Amino acid sequence: MIKPHGADILKPLFIENSVERNALLEEAASLPALILNSASAANAVMLGAGYFTPLEGYMNVADTLSVAEKMQTENGLFWPVPCINCTDDITAIEGSSTIALLDPNIEGNPVLAIQNVEAIESLSEAQINLVTKQIFGTLDTGHPGVKTFKGLGKYLISGPIKVLNYSYFETDFASTFRTALQIRNQIEQNNWETVVAFQTRNPMHRAHEELCKIAQESINADGILIHMLLGRLKPGDIPADIRDAAIRKMVELYFPKNTVMVTGYGFDMLYAGPREAVLHAVFRQNAGCTHLIVGRDHAGVGDFYGPFDAQTIFDNNTIIDALDIEIFKADHTAYSKKLNKVVMLRDATDHTKEDFVMLSGTRVRDMLAAGEDLPPEFARPEVAEILMSYYQQEENL
Ligand code: ADX
Repeated sequence: MIKPHGADILKPLFIENSVERNALLEEAASLPALILNSASAANAVMLGAGYFTPLEGYMNVADTLSVAEKMQTENGLFWPVPCINCTDDITAIEGSSTIALLDPNIEGNPVLAIQNVEAIESLSEAQINLVTKQIFGTLDTGHPGVKTFKGLGKYLISGPIKVLNYSYFETDFASTFRTALQIRNQIEQNNWETVVAFQTRNPMHRAHEELCKIAQESINADGILIHMLLGRLKPGDIPADIRDAAIRKMVELYFPKNTVMVTGYGFDMLYAGPREAVLHAVFRQNAGCTHLIVGRDHAGVGDFYGPFDAQTIFDNNTIIDALDIEIFKADHTAYSKKLNKVVMLRDATDHTKEDFVMLSGTRVRDMLAAGEDLPPEFARPEVAEILMSYYQQEENL
């Protein structure tokens, strides 16, 4: 099986032993405490679940700057996006060597993790801008990821953590949230050797369904991991529970049995395009996948990235040397009226734009909000029905 990134075995930071975990929870009750922001909490969940192997906790300023600039920590570990715990208010934890990290996304802010504080440092305004520019490619606060990132706070609290639960992900998405270790184990049980991962934050339409099938066929994969983001999204994106139901329906009706695992991970969307695609590759390798599909405008938003920037970033030798997972680079995929099937544009050179059924995300939303059926060439009717009832409910609120 493919090795985890930078380690021989996966290193989940969740404390499996319940006696130890309960003792830590008890200890946490009397520790100085910090309410995390959602991004730092999501980092803790990813560290806990093994997706961020081999990291052992949150990065300091030197590693943050180094990762932002050259996708490597100071000691040379390949890593594409800083994993940080930041805040604007350190009054409660200043001078403490061990702190409780509280969950911002659950009422009452229960303990999520315990951190050994190695350092509390601050980033200057110029350093925050530098990191933002390198990760997101822009300083424009019209970019939802930039807006979130710039509001996280200037103090970085670095050091190793022990994770004590998986926040709301394991309760709200019990049948979909899976750790990297659980996915690895399942892949092993299925006897799958080649596994292609599909990242998504959207419901899957016919183009996405076919993209998975084309990728599986072309690399002769034993299975497909549909791996959806379960954390926070920008306004207007479809909530994870609706998307989950739509994807499960599609898999049930349109994929051969036992060829797809429908799962999710607990992380907030960054919308960081190319850099996020590289992070996606790292944690799919950790989950035991041999390939990751990167299509058009992967992890993008608006016009901030070129449609294939998230593919060309992988041509970089540092990335090729650091990662074992391979990228399946997909062209724009759409239904061809001439061929009566979904194809990649690069495989239909005799077509013009008018030969395809293409709908923008905005157009799809407008149609559903107006109660107009989506064309069957674009969306499976059973999937469209789930989306329609969500939009109609929203309209009636
Ligand atoms: S993402 O932010 O999670 O990347 P989305 O769920 O829309 O967004 O896309 C999931 C994956 O499908 C990404 O790899 C994306 O590039 C790819 N993709 C989505 N739509 C198309 C399309 N029409 N043609 C090719 N690739 C696509």
